[in-house]
Amino acid sequence: MKRHILFVFSIVTLGLPALAAADLDALMEDCNSCHGDNGVSQWTDMPTIAGLSEMVHVDALYMYMDEARPCADSEYRQGDTSRAATNMCAIAAELSEDDIDALAAAYAELPYVPAKQEFDAGLAAAGEAVHNKQCDRCHSDAGMNPDDEAGMLGGQQMGYLRTTFEQYADGSREQPKKMKEKMDALSADDVEALIHYYGSQQ
Ligand code: HEC
Ligand code: HEC
Repeated sequence: MKRHILFVFSIVTLGLPALAAADLDALMEDCNSCHGDNGVSQWTDMPTIAGLSEMVHVDALYMYMDEARPCADSEYRQGDTSRAATNMCAIAAELSEDDIDALAAAYAELPYVPAKQEFDAGLAAAGEAVHNKQCDRCHSDAGMNPDDEAGMLGGQQMGYLRTTFEQYADGSREQPKKMKEKMDALSADDVEALIHYYGSQQ
């Protein structure tokens, strides 16, 4: 009887993950040839995905799968750069649910590294004031707290942030209703200041 209980217990604890480690590694190598080593981007238009909360990451991949978020073609940045340009919608369409769960969990474990980038200190100070008033409630710690389940803003690549603000403004990317109220009230100067504030987090 004791043996039986032990046996059941070991199946539960030693059960194989849904995705073999080698398969996950191969998938991540592909992601990293655009998003950067360990998911940390060195390109202004490319978001860092390391440290993104698991829930936000899963959500993003399903949005791309449904083509519910814009996904412009992008060149591969490293590794075999002769591969044809592709986009997040095409990439997500190839992933299984198990792939998505495993990728989101793996990237959530990787350290978030804020981007080294140039910013204007005056604009950053103006942006901090806007952020603290309008955005901090949902994006705490300068938007770098993954527990907020709201994406990573501080230290994110500024080119990516700029495109994201444009997509929210023209409605091509959906946003939470309460956030839209705040976004719609921002002036163009506020948006530019916020981008520099997030870029200043290094
Ligand atoms: C060919 C280049 C390329 C490859 C390969 C690629 N991505 Fe992307 N990814 C992008 C670009 C460019 C963006 C940002 C622009 C956009 O939304 O299309 C992006 C955006 C994302 C986002 C949204 C980030 C956010 O903060 O909302 C996630 C998540 C993501 N990619 C995950 C992945 C994963 C996981 C893989 C591997 C299965 C992958 N990407 C492979 C280019 C790529
Ligand atoms: C009511 C809560 C809430 C408020 C207020 C809010 N946000 Fe958000 N924000 C979210 C959530 C949740 C997400 C993630 C959902 C998504 O990806 O669409 C998000 C996503 C984002 C993203 C995309 C991040 C990425 O990785 O692509 C940006 C940029 C952003 N918010 C900026 C702001 C700014 C700037 C303000 C203040 C003017 C603000 N938000 C106010 C909840 C909020």
